[in-house]
Amino acid sequence: MFLIEAPITGKRQVARGMFVLSMRAPEIAVSVRAGQFVNLGWSPGPLLRRPFSVYQSDGDQIEVILKAVGTGTSQLLDMRTGDRLSCLGPLGHGFDLRAGPTSVVLISGGLGIAPMPLAAKEAAAHGMKVTWVHGARTAEELCTEATGDALIWATDDGSKGFHGNAVAAAPDADLVLACGPNRMLAAVAARTPDALVAVETYMGCGTGVCLGCAVPLKQGGYDRACKEGPVYRAAGIDWTALPAHLAYSVPV
Ligand SMILES: Cc1cc2nc3c(=O)[nH]c(=O)nc-3n(C[C@H](O)[C@H](O)[C@H](O)COP(=O)(O)OP(=O)(O)OC[C@H]3O[C@@H](n4cnc5c(N)ncnc54)[C@H](O)[C@@H]3O)c2cc1C
Ligand code: FES
Repeated sequence: MFLIEAPITGKRQVARGMFVLSMRAPEIAVSVRAGQFVNLGWSPGPLLRRPFSVYQSDGDQIEVILKAVGTGTSQLLDMRTGDRLSCLGPLGHGFDLRAGPTSVVLISGGLGIAPMPLAAKEAAAHGMKVTWVHGARTAEELCTEATGDALIWATDDGSKGFHGNAVAAAPDADLVLACGPNRMLAAVAARTPDALVAVETYMGCGTGVCLGCAVPLKQGGYDRACKEGPVYRAAGIDWTALPAHLAYSVPV
């Protein structure tokens, strides 16, 4: 884990209300795995750092993707090139892509696209065929940067691609990775219990100390999303006890 003063190096829009921020964070860029996250702080800013999945890493740069859902994300999107972020990471356990399947299906809903570009890159590096199913409510909310050997769009209103949700549009595969609203992940768990899902929780410290990120487990008890997660086997989570409305679900 590294704590880096990371200058912002760019910002681009990738869907309605959705932006990618890039920053220089060399140690994190070379060590991050798909599904891991960074905890960002800045001054003046909120008391608590804010967690973001690492969206891309390239050379000495990392990227995060976000929408303005509150004070912190609005402040982040108002920052300019050269402004500095305090970047703690990489944090958590990412997707385990070493098991050797030949094909993988990535299912992302809205902002749940966040860990998928790195997952697609790692899966391809392991020789897997990557099918990516990306869904949103409407065509304007689909992130334009989804790729893969095969790409399936899904929209709730039918304005682009499959008319319906991303889970319904997804084909079967050796391995399924998913990220999106917790309600969507519950549907993934019902269909593919062995899928690996990146969950979103409230977070305080991001480093295993405050217990603010409790994930209710099917077997009873809780895990810390920031330490043992945020990636879990889908069937291992008690989906009825996780909040359904967090940032990945917030419409813009
Ligand atoms: C492991 C992990 C990875 C994440 N990755 C991303 C990402 O890649 N892109 C992205 O946009 N967001 C991501 N999030 C969510 C992001 O951290 C929250 O959107 C952010 O903390 C909200 O901060 P804010 O100051 O803008 O909102 P606040 O002003 O703190 O809150 C505004 C509203 O947002 C709600 N809220 C929604 N989600 C959260 C949350 N997780 N924590 C606290 N409040 C929340 C609050 O309840 C409140 O209603 C991730 C969260 C986790 C746990
Ligand atoms: S956020 Fe503090 S223990 Fe996980």
